[in-house]
Amino acid sequence: MKNNRTISQWGCYFLVLSMFMITGCAKDEIPEVKKTTTPTPTPADTIVPLKTLFGKMFPIGAAVASNQVLSSAIQYNTLRKHFSSITPENCMKPDAIERVKGVFTWAEADRIVAFAQANNMKVRGHCLTWHSQTPDWMFYDENGALLSKEVALKQLKEYITAVVSRYKGKIYAWDVVNEALSDWTPDANDMYRKDSPWYKICGDASYIDSAFVYAHRADPNAKLFYNDYNEIYGWKRNKIYNLVKGLKDRGIPIHGLGMQAHWNVGFSENDIRTTLDLYKTLGVDLQLTELDLSVYKSDTDASSTVYTTAFSESQELAYPKLFKIIADYKSYITGVTFWGVADDYTWLDKSDRKAFPFLLNTNHQPKKAYGAVQKMIKAL
Ligand code: XIL
Repeated sequence: MKNNRTISQWGCYFLVLSMFMITGCAKDEIPEVKKTTTPTPTPADTIVPLKTLFGKMFPIGAAVASNQVLSSAIQYNTLRKHFSSITPENCMKPDAIERVKGVFTWAEADRIVAFAQANNMKVRGHCLTWHSQTPDWMFYDENGALLSKEVALKQLKEYITAVVSRYKGKIYAWDVVNEALSDWTPDANDMYRKDSPWYKICGDASYIDSAFVYAHRADPNAKLFYNDYNEIYGWKRNKIYNLVKGLKDRGIPIHGLGMQAHWNVGFSENDIRTTLDLYKTLGVDLQLTELDLSVYKSDTDASSTVYTTAFSESQELAYPKLFKIIADYKSYITGVTFWGVADDYTWLDKSDRKAFPFLLNTNHQPKKAYGAVQKMIKAL
């Protein structure tokens, strides 16, 4: 008993003495604490936020619906933690901003811009001129007949001027024209999407030139983009190149090419590199504007609503492979935006088929693919 007490008393003295030694040290002489065991790091300890990981290369963005930003704390926190850029998924499209002629609905778009400003994020505006999600009054008269070119372009000018002016200095880049080119055929003569009401009204693609000029006049400092999908495939790649080259050659103010990047885990590295090698010669900013990497390689792949091990493994390979390519072209690529935030919501989902296209899982936690991307980037 006695001995025990003596030992514990010595123990106490020793503890007090060592605490004194630690706290008594000057700040720059913090003694090394020797750990007997090294705790296994949890992913949360080791994960670097996306915006930090890519901070030296380009802004990393997410597309959002404004109700997500407002009503979901998890969404709000993830956006602030990981992203340095934001694109409104739908609320800046013409049918959202001016569904009824003369009646502007700014509330949602304003909210996103305010959120971005409050959190030091860039905003990409999407999109000003498109055949889809555009109200009928921009194309047809009250009898359902196509408008004249003169009237349609006057209205387009008024629309673009109103929207771009409102966010002048707040939106740094605009998708001025979206998806104007014909798809699925490599025929260079079949260049434009002829079923677009814009094309039908004008009888040609001159509305594209006009849209860029209107946007530039409204905000001469905004970066103006042409944005399209299936951009890496042989049948579309050259058309996009030719369009942007033509705009530049004619002196139209275009500054960027948006590659939508709706791809999947089976993408061809060669397709992407060939495309970037071609586009980098255009002398405009290149951005991946709507990136998602679905776990399905084709429509016939078996559907699942569960993130299987096979899905996880395929993304763990595909994602670092993709970001390695992107890193190789970092002097040309000025932004990468995911078309969503995390796997809980994506426009690709169907009730029996979830696409799980992002680096963050349905709980907004980093997936294994995230760790693999981080490892690859850190090793560069
Ligand atoms: C999609 C949105 O994600 C969906 O919510 C909406 O129902 C349809 O449009 N290319 C584009 C985007 O340029 O605007 C599209 O966004 C996806 C394809």
